[in-house]
Amino acid sequence: MKADRIHNFNAGPAALPLPVLEEIQASFLNFAGSGMSITEVSHRSKWFDDVINDAVTRVKRILALDDRYHVLFLQGGASLQFCMVPMNLLGAGDSADYVNTGTWSTKAVKEATIQGKSVNVVASSEDRNFAYIPRSIAFSRDAVFAHITSNNTIKGTQWAEFPDTGGVPIVSDMSSDIFCRPLPMEKFGLIYAGAQKNMGPAGVCLVIIRDDLMARTPGDIPTMLRYTTYAEKNSMFNTPPCFAVYTVQLVLKWLEETIGGLDKMAELNRKKAGLLYDYMDRSDFYRGTADKDSRSLMNVTFRLPSEELEKAFVAEALENGLGGLKGHRSVGGCRASIYNPTPLAAVEALLDFMRTFERRKG
Ligand SMILES: Cc1ncc(COP(=O)(O)O)c(C=O)c1O
Repeated sequence: MKADRIHNFNAGPAALPLPVLEEIQASFLNFAGSGMSITEVSHRSKWFDDVINDAVTRVKRILALDDRYHVLFLQGGASLQFCMVPMNLLGAGDSADYVNTGTWSTKAVKEATIQGKSVNVVASSEDRNFAYIPRSIAFSRDAVFAHITSNNTIKGTQWAEFPDTGGVPIVSDMSSDIFCRPLPMEKFGLIYAGAQKNMGPAGVCLVIIRDDLMARTPGDIPTMLRYTTYAEKNSMFNTPPCFAVYTVQLVLKWLEETIGGLDKMAELNRKKAGLLYDYMDRSDFYRGTADKDSRSLMNVTFRLPSEELEKAFVAEALENGLGGLKGHRSVGGCRASIYNPTPLAAVEALLDFMRTFERRKG
């Protein structure tokens, strides 16, 4: 076992802010004077009520949500949302637009299609292995929603700006970039995000849904698959993932009180990603895989001149205390996931290592 913590560039589950981990550790055996850990208190207790209510309040404040938006905590990950979104929002005769920008969008389309829902894939970047975000998309004016994946964790691309859908509400999978920057909420009808990248541990999925879309939820689908079930019971129709919600609450507190909110977070994220991309652009050794105008602030994907060098890079990086730099198994190469909690110092340490490795092997 390592004596010290490493710089963690895992894609998810991913690094959490150290002060949050320390707070969990310090309060673990006796949470808020309860004489129990957070994993032992009842979800029907005042202790947990305070946790979930504070988490909801913080989400609303951080994103400046108006009263039309509901903040829900669900289980089943973002993958269950691929199924619940069309199940709840598309009735007979309805259709939705989907933009396919990679593995996760493809799965979202699949889960809508297998329910027999009417789905139009209005744009795709599959022709160039999902290396870019499509532009100038003709969205359907009569679609119930337009689905996008705001950040493509595997391919390292991200929507720099959200598309003009002509007023059709955007539904976005933000699993890997929620809270990385301020959002133009007037464009969004529903946002979902598995917590385990930018927000907390695995086990909880945040859903933000606007009244008009929630009103579409049919009464004849299973209770646990209806958004209304969660909205009516403050996400506690059944036992919620208490520990995961608690950790999310602490991460949101850190985002507001230590970082200073989304503008500050975005500035820091641009700085971190900029350091890596600028260096790669000046190097003949490292090659970014995403088009420049589509690059992700969260997942920096790159190749080295050969697969042998990539293997050596990942292994030697780990020996130097830099973990999780292997690309997704479906695409190979290397990937540095630098979500909100990744400190600037970790990126600087990676940059140092990249320079040294290039000098030795380039
Ligand atoms: C963008 C995106 N969507 C969905 C998923 C799937 O999330 P979950 O494992 O929470 O179902 C992931 C996981 O990596 C992801 O990166």
